[in-house]
Amino acid sequence: MAGRDLSRRYTAADLRVFTRDEASRFVPDGDGDPQTDIDLAWELLYRLEPELYDRLASAERLHPGVLGWLPRAVDRIVEVGAGAGRLTLELIGRGREVVAVEPARPLRRILRRKLAEADHGGRARVTHGFFDELPLGDDVADLVVACSVLTPAAGHGGEAGLAEMERVCRPGGCVAIIWPNNLDWLAALGYRYACFPGPMAVEFPSYEEAVELAGIFYPDAAEEVRRRGQARVPFEVLGINPPRDLAFKVLAP
Ligand SMILES: C[S@@+](CC[C@H](N)C(=O)[O-])C[C@H]1O[C@@H](n2cnc3c(N)ncnc32)[C@H](O)[C@@H]1O
Repeated sequence: MAGRDLSRRYTAADLRVFTRDEASRFVPDGDGDPQTDIDLAWELLYRLEPELYDRLASAERLHPGVLGWLPRAVDRIVEVGAGAGRLTLELIGRGREVVAVEPARPLRRILRRKLAEADHGGRARVTHGFFDELPLGDDVADLVVACSVLTPAAGHGGEAGLAEMERVCRPGGCVAIIWPNNLDWLAALGYRYACFPGPMAVEFPSYEEAVELAGIFYPDAAEEVRRRGQARVPFEVLGINPPRDLAFKVLAP
């Protein structure tokens, strides 16, 4: 297992880790293969090796322009698919209350630990939930945000998930999808786009960590990461678009 890349890390036997609610979203036909379905492999990672996922997400920092764009001094912020809190910790202090919705229990545990360490003064609440059934009332938030989560696939949000985000957002509030993966889909649903320029790199804590995590998450780039000999790896070396953009919709007042 140690250095095995994500596409070969888990097997169908690992799907047992899903709760019934998770299985109904991630393997709706009752079975699946994480060695051919990379989305399934990511979901297993969040549950079987959450600290490994957190090491990666902590190194892939969001562009300061994205963070600067997000509103400040609002009442309530809802984040969907908060994970281990890459964005959540940046949201504290921008709202009277931040509600972080996250389905994977092991990630909720990490997020709660980080929030406790960050002394958030009770302003953040972490709760279980899925895009298609957000555990929140209508019109309760000024900002409803998701980062590196929503896709057009039903199990990962889809149109129903976006409609839920808009239901929870108050009139005049904003729904924002950070690091979106399907711009045409969002544009067709009335979302505008913002992107921030400048070089961006994944900031691994050490060269050794860069080599190890590239081997697991970016195996095609692992040799180049080793050759460069640095902890800082430009996103283009890894072959992925950097977290420098967002799609958003301001709801009619
Ligand atoms: C790539 S991680 C991103 C986590 C976090 N937003 C970040 O940027 O670090 C994807 C997250 O989406 C969550 N997720 C997957 N399917 C979901 C769904 N149907 N509803 C809500 N969250 C979901 C996962 O549990 C995971 O935390």
